[in-house]
Amino acid sequence: MELLKESLVVIHLAGMAVLVGAFIVNMKRKSDFPFTAMMWAAIVQLSTGTLLVGLSYALDDAPDNFKITVKTLLATGALVAAIIGRKRQAHGESKLQPFFHAAGGFAVINLIIAVLWNAELWS
Ligand code: HEM
Repeated sequence: MELLKESLVVIHLAGMAVLVGAFIVNMKRKSDFPFTAMMWAAIVQLSTGTLLVGLSYALDDAPDNFKITVKTLLATGALVAAIIGRKRQAHGESKLQPFFHAAGGFAVINLIIAVLWNAELWS
């Protein structure tokens, strides 16, 4: 069970690297945004994150539900922004930067929350 959890953490961190990396590397772009990669990475984050929460309960190590709720809302926001941006880009529409920045911004905020929203750090 512990090995399964750590393997999921590896996939969760790889998904985070793709999502945040796609944003940082392409931050100066005005077109051709990597929405497809960001969409799949957000799906990976939501699914591995949900499985990690389930496993935490199975291992009697309940997570902070408020933190998980905030992370889920932000990851869902990133996914929705990536899906809308991807659809609009496929239809040749312009002004897609706000969707790219929303998806990437939500991911970066989630990364900061994941690491810094830690009770032990502030007590
Ligand atoms: C863009 C979305 C996300 C990003 C960038 C992200 C990032 C991270 C990072 C960097 C960690 C490691 C933190 C550390 O160990 O100090 C982590 C752990 C974790 N994340 Fe996420 N996450 C995201 C979405 C989610 C979602 C949606 C959920 C839940 C539904 C979730 C649940 C968890 C859990 C339970 C852990 C702890 C694993 C452990 O016990 O070591 N994450 N996340």
